[in-house]
Amino acid sequence: MDDIKIFLSEKDIPRKWYNLAADLPTAVPPPVGPDGKPITPEVLAPIFPMNLIEQEVSLKRWIDIPEGIIEILYRWRPSPLRRARYLEKYLKTPARIYYKDESMSPPGSHKPNTAVAQAWYNKEFGIKKLITETGAGQWGSALAFACNLLGLECKVYMVRISFDQKPLRKSMMKIWGAECVASPSDETEFGRKILKEMPDTPGSLGIAISEAIEETVKDTSGKTRYSLGSVLNHVMLHQTIIGLEAKKQLEIAGEKKVDVVIGCAGGGSNFAGLSFPFVHDKINGADITIIPTEPTACPTMTKGPFAYDYGDSACQTPLLAMYTLGHTFVPPPIHAGGLRYHGLAPIVSQAIVEGLIEPRSYHQLQCYESAILWARTEGPLCAPETSHAITCVIEEAVKAREEGKEKVILFNYSGHGLMDLAGYEKFLSGELTDYHLPEGEMAKSIGELDGLPRPAAKKSGKW
Ligand SMILES: Cc1ncc(COP(=O)(O)O)c(C=O)c1O
Repeated sequence: MDDIKIFLSEKDIPRKWYNLAADLPTAVPPPVGPDGKPITPEVLAPIFPMNLIEQEVSLKRWIDIPEGIIEILYRWRPSPLRRARYLEKYLKTPARIYYKDESMSPPGSHKPNTAVAQAWYNKEFGIKKLITETGAGQWGSALAFACNLLGLECKVYMVRISFDQKPLRKSMMKIWGAECVASPSDETEFGRKILKEMPDTPGSLGIAISEAIEETVKDTSGKTRYSLGSVLNHVMLHQTIIGLEAKKQLEIAGEKKVDVVIGCAGGGSNFAGLSFPFVHDKINGADITIIPTEPTACPTMTKGPFAYDYGDSACQTPLLAMYTLGHTFVPPPIHAGGLRYHGLAPIVSQAIVEGLIEPRSYHQLQCYESAILWARTEGPLCAPETSHAITCVIEEAVKAREEGKEKVILFNYSGHGLMDLAGYEKFLSGELTDYHLPEGEMAKSIGELDGLPRPAAKKSGKW
């Protein structure tokens, strides 16, 4: 029988990140100001260190991973590639299902791949404190973990609903020395304004980002910066180590071709990390179906327009060209907190515009059913975000059975769900529901994009 765990030795860890911006047939429209003019890197300087801003705008295909980062990544990388043989057997599918297990990192997800890199570059630049937001708490705990290793202070604004649903994530952040407050909070002007207008709001990533940026730019010491766990080009870049390792591991497993690549997408980083090296192959002629998945309750990719929009609710960021539901959209309180974001990484958005990747959306209850099937066949408890990828894997594996095709399916197992048991409990006791968004609600926040500049949705027409 073939191996079900494929390891890569430490000496074979990738030493460069892959930058899709170098190969996209049509460039991502640049970030612009409200006047529609492209912003200069200096505009971002109070928010990010210049070494990361340089990475953000780089068009170099391969970027060296500094040795200091690799040394920390060795704590859990290379991550295993696993074969989901028991799910295959249950589904009676001829497909071979592989998954990159990112749940093995100390905080339990893919997020520390960029947290460590960002903390390292900030430290190199002389920064002493990082401020961030977190949805499900995975990103906040990953940055807390990285800051602790690199000797930086860390403060996290955690979206209110997750703060209440996942209290143990707060403990993880505290253990690694970070401060964690619920957002909206009374610590910022924007937080106080939102609390006054909507005292019972579950919060959103857009609001939490605004609070974190507000506090960062108010600090005039020059030693504090903001850090984002997804969406931006440099975050996607740091995550490509996942797909680059997976390629080497599939080769070891004897697979010559991958047919389907799947990842869930909140801001887009775990999906991008696994898939971009395969998008590169697709650009060069490979026949691969590449699918990002999202909740129907926050259908950014499948229902949102491609538009210029702010990354945060208080309109402090530059305008980014992306699929978006509008920066005022507050998603329903689904348990997949990391997928409750109104926008999507501009570089992933451009890959959708090009037709290189094909998004799908799923309801919460179907995703919990998939998570339970996964736990009862394969064993592990997945994060609610990850269950959106597993649902698509099951769909594709059943399709392969119906077509009688021996496909190779690869997906990103973005995190474990051991801090998410309250959601499982609610599902098992029948308390969870699907959310059907009132059309008017989405139309309202999307309508607010009307006054903003419009990007041209340019594509090469090859896919
Ligand atoms: C386990 C897990 N998967 C996926 C995501 C979605 O984020 P991204 O799209 O940036 O990978 C999150 C975000 O918090 C997460 O915690």
